[in-house]
Amino acid sequence: MKNSTARKIVRRVEYTPYPWILDHVVLRFEIGDDTTRVLSRLHIRRNDACAPAADIDLDGQDMELISVSLDGLPLDDSGFTKTSEQLLIHDAPASCTLEIEVQIEPLKNTTLTGLYPSGDFLLTQCEAEGFRRITYFPDRPDVMSRYEVTLVADKARYPVLLSNGNSVGSGEFEGGRHWVRWDDPFAKPSYLFALVAGHLSFIEDQFTTTSGRNVTLRVFVEPENLDRCDHAMESLIHSMKWDEDRFGLEYDLDIYNIVATNDFNMGAMENKSLNIFNSKYVLARPDTATDLDYQGIEGVIGHEYFHNWTGNRVTCQDWFQLTLKEGLTVFRDQEFSSDMHSRAVKRIRDVRALRSRQFPEDAGPMSHPIRPDKYIEINNFYTMTVYQKGAEIIRMYHTLLGEDGFQKGIRLYFQRHDGMAVTCDDFMAAMADANGVDLGRFGRWYGQSGTPELKVSSSYDADAKIYTLHLSQVTPSTHDQSNKQPLVIPVAMGLLSKDGHALPLRLQGEQEGTGSSRLLVLDEEQQSFVFEGVEERPIPSVLRGYSAPVKIDCPYSTAELAVLMAHDSDAFVRWDSAQLLSQREILGNVSRLVEGAEPVLAPELVDAYDALLADLDSDPGLVAEALALPGEDYLAEVMPVVDVDGIHAARKFVKSGLANALQQQFLQRYTDMCTDQVYSKDPVSMARRSLKNICLSFLLETASGEGLAEAQLAGSDNMTDTLAALQGLVWVEAPAAETALQSFEHQWRDDALVMDKWFSIQASIPGEHAVGRVKTLLDHPGFSISNPNKVRSVIGVFSMMNPTGFHTADGSGYRLHADQVIALDSLNPQMAARMTGAFNSWTRYDENRRNLMRTELKRIAAVQNLSPDVSEIVSNAIGMDKNNK
Ligand code: BES
Ligand code: ZN
Repeated sequence: MKNSTARKIVRRVEYTPYPWILDHVVLRFEIGDDTTRVLSRLHIRRNDACAPAADIDLDGQDMELISVSLDGLPLDDSGFTKTSEQLLIHDAPASCTLEIEVQIEPLKNTTLTGLYPSGDFLLTQCEAEGFRRITYFPDRPDVMSRYEVTLVADKARYPVLLSNGNSVGSGEFEGGRHWVRWDDPFAKPSYLFALVAGHLSFIEDQFTTTSGRNVTLRVFVEPENLDRCDHAMESLIHSMKWDEDRFGLEYDLDIYNIVATNDFNMGAMENKSLNIFNSKYVLARPDTATDLDYQGIEGVIGHEYFHNWTGNRVTCQDWFQLTLKEGLTVFRDQEFSSDMHSRAVKRIRDVRALRSRQFPEDAGPMSHPIRPDKYIEINNFYTMTVYQKGAEIIRMYHTLLGEDGFQKGIRLYFQRHDGMAVTCDDFMAAMADANGVDLGRFGRWYGQSGTPELKVSSSYDADAKIYTLHLSQVTPSTHDQSNKQPLVIPVAMGLLSKDGHALPLRLQGEQEGTGSSRLLVLDEEQQSFVFEGVEERPIPSVLRGYSAPVKIDCPYSTAELAVLMAHDSDAFVRWDSAQLLSQREILGNVSRLVEGAEPVLAPELVDAYDALLADLDSDPGLVAEALALPGEDYLAEVMPVVDVDGIHAARKFVKSGLANALQQQFLQRYTDMCTDQVYSKDPVSMARRSLKNICLSFLLETASGEGLAEAQLAGSDNMTDTLAALQGLVWVEAPAAETALQSFEHQWRDDALVMDKWFSIQASIPGEHAVGRVKTLLDHPGFSISNPNKVRSVIGVFSMMNPTGFHTADGSGYRLHADQVIALDSLNPQMAARMTGAFNSWTRYDENRRNLMRTELKRIAAVQNLSPDVSEIVSNAIGMDKNNK
């Protein structure tokens, strides 16, 4: 019956408003030992904007219906129709009160959606469609209601009872049960509902908003984690302040709760006033969390907080509009992190993630526009495209309109739509109207998939001193879409002289120059921009700050890249030039290895690295980013047919060549960065640690590396340095690695989050032994397939961050992975679908690997009762076949 491949496709154009309005929802949860009773009273009236409907159509899954009554009268079987996913109430009057009682079994729920257990407490996850596992309800984001919620449970077992909004009453019953009532004054869609029940401890602080509202802030964790909450609380306070300062947005309730759980499919969830977080994004102490963890916590706390306006106060009309809240909120959290730390480093890291993860997605079987046109399972569309590319589209509004214009647009958006469920078009209209501009063509970014390629060429007339920059664009056809139209591409640029000086810019027709940096806008297939008074043939610096999410194709010479890398005023261009230089060097060596030739290291790259290491003026964090070679994932992305082993060998060769040629210089910078006496988490210390540890990773390719790493490990007082040293030793297979891993395990075996790191390090060790090693890790007592963090640390890292291990030529990595996907699917389809994505790039490999991966995809597809989640991913992936025969 549950054969999910039968699930129907949902299409954006088929949207119709819900014909009923639910003003008020009253819920009562009777939490028992094994089962929970949910009583709901829905105050319903006709939506006059729609044709009158005879039936009330409610969603519901995996629950037992106890009773239904309409205006106080119990309905018998003729009054409603119930199927496995729906309850239809027949012949409803224009306005009525519907009471429904259901029973659910949270302890048996392994999906981590709906109401489920974690440790010894209960919690909910409702986005996107989890509320329908709690009670029958129109579980769609455009149905917004006020909720009053009463939670009743045994006081000893569930002392803390939380839901959205304000706590408005509580009391005790005989027999040890107690109740707490919550009232949320803001209308919200069901996906923002939350409850938490159990034995939790909290830390508390206060925030006073600009208009004087006193907000109580609490972070709830399991009691043993109470000493790891301070950074999360600080991050929350910084977020609240930042949103006031930069966006003029204030918090709107007197209470803000955050709850941390070890069992969570995602990073965190923005439920109104009751955010629920993966403990990875809450818990931190210097000895347990790395600098990246600290920054991750700050970013995610910010993200969920910023949703209070962009997502909650104004929400999505339907799930096709997901980027309306996610793209915008990612942009906001990126800006927050940029304002708190180094803007340039943040930008570089975001671009790195976009290129290595979103570009492949957009070129593969799951390619879709940021506003998709169709889906089978919405959970499969919480993607890099909707999030990261979506944030890039928001960033382009900002680039085109400027900070003031952008803020004007945001203000108009809230003025028009506060309290409503709206669309991406509404957002675009607010931006356009507030600025008096036409964004019609810009809107194509919402509907077109694929990564555009920006081609740059130029000509120079030395006599006339005229320089012409030719820009053209093409978006390749994708799995989901073939005909592509030109997009609006903002190109921030400048021109440099041979010795790296910025040249003044004056476009033909202009009287005055406009400084040395400007924004060109390409909105046709091709356009030429003519600059006058250019004294010498310049080097173009294009896409400064990565002003558009495109691939850049510009025929730079090595010498030109070296000039840009050393002298451009834009940190992104400096970094990107360094990346391109190393990328060419690595890919050149891949070819040499294929031809059986000796690999070589170009002296120009050594010189460029020498200069980077000698740069004492730049932010150490930026130097660290520039030193880091392009990852194997991104190198794979730019190769026509991925040569996994070639990439690994060539990258290793270049890394080791640079390390040995510049050993003294690496050592010098390493030592300079080691002088910080005590640990501090301020941005400067973090940047210094990042440079120190990238130097260490190069030094590990030299004779002096292992000694340094062992000493660092022994003397470390923080997880950043500990992990860098341990990881380094393990990855170069140093003799000390085995003991180091053992003592780490001994020290942290009871700490789930720290053990995730121990698992990840080992799951990512490259080479043919990876498969056997991963099998051992899966049998480790600390591993559990029902815990998403563990699944990501072992199965996720192996399949997505260990290319030589996963793509072992005999196919054993694929087989192991498919086995895990199948096991996971019966417990947690959402996680299983995410893991299945490791096969998405299967057509990009050699024929042997393609065949092996296709076999595994087909094996997964043939599983009985496969979830719609996994089914959608595998059938799309197998569908790539026709393009690659
Ligand atoms: N609304 C999402 C969380 C979510 C998505 C829950 C899908 C359930 C299903 C939340 O705001 C979010 O986007 N979280 C991100 C982290 C964020 C910093 C990008 C996540 O969980 O990965
Ligand atoms: Zn979000």
